[in-house]
Amino acid sequence: MKTVVVTGAAQGLGREVAERFAKAGWAIALTDIQPLDALAEMLTMEGARVSALSGDQSDPAFVGRLAAEVERVHGAADVLVNNAGISSIGPAEDMPPAQWERVLSVNLTGPFLLSQAFGRPMLARGSGAIVNVASVAGLGGVIHRAAYNASKHGLVGLTRTLAAEWGGRGVRVNAVCPGWIKTEMDAKDLGSGAYTDADIENRVPLARFASPADVAEAIEFLASASFVNGVCLPVDGGWTADSSWDALRLKTRD
Ligand SMILES: NC(=O)c1ccc[n+]([C@@H]2O[C@H](COP(=O)([O-])OP(=O)(O)OC[C@H]3O[C@@H](n4cnc5c(N)ncnc54)[C@H](O)[C@@H]3O)[C@@H](O)[C@H]2O)c1
Repeated sequence: MKTVVVTGAAQGLGREVAERFAKAGWAIALTDIQPLDALAEMLTMEGARVSALSGDQSDPAFVGRLAAEVERVHGAADVLVNNAGISSIGPAEDMPPAQWERVLSVNLTGPFLLSQAFGRPMLARGSGAIVNVASVAGLGGVIHRAAYNASKHGLVGLTRTLAAEWGGRGVRVNAVCPGWIKTEMDAKDLGSGAYTDADIENRVPLARFASPADVAEAIEFLASASFVNGVCLPVDGGWTADSSWDALRLKTRD
């Protein structure tokens, strides 16, 4: 039985990824800064082999404990999905340095530490795959998201570098770059008044938000696609492909 480690599994996209892999017969190692007991119990009742450990992924001591726990329970991790992340919205000139540091720590240093901790045994075995959850904000600038965008651009760079460095030893590293997804993160950001549903629906050629399932499907593909390495795949309904202005795009929907 293969094992996947899913970070940020308590809600949103991470939860969807955990449920999807569990249904496909994988053993699941859940982790999140929030409690995971209810999800672990539900997946176990459905027949999955599950471990769960809560903690802060930006803390190297926690990541070390997590790697030891996954090895103890599952033996080895075949796939790591670096999904956990936090958003941060506001004018760049007003961002407190501590907030910048926190976003970079969680969204970039965390995935790096996890890639090291789970990548070392993958390299020793000569096989494994890592899928990082970046964003369209890792491929282009988005106003009022300086730290978030820097962290996701960093994650894209880390993905490409690890793919180059580890590919020859059997470890593939890829990323998904989703557009806006309907999750708890989106509900919080929408609630702050930063944007509306219509803003996003008008901007996306497919004229809707992504669902967690839309993105989880792409993550599952990258986890298993044997000759795909170093790809940062937009899962964005055409957002990054489309340089049109909104009025022109909306005309095509008449
Ligand atoms: N929702 C979107 O529109 C969107 C778009 C593009 C990319 N993403 C990315 O997708 C990923 C998942 O986002 P989501 O929308 O499901 O968000 P979410 O806020 O619903 O879930 C994120 C999860 O990460 C966990 N987490 C936060 N900080 C952590 C830490 N320090 N250590 C461990 N776990 C921590 C949270 O507790 C939460 O369960 C994130 O990396 C996000 O940046 C989201």
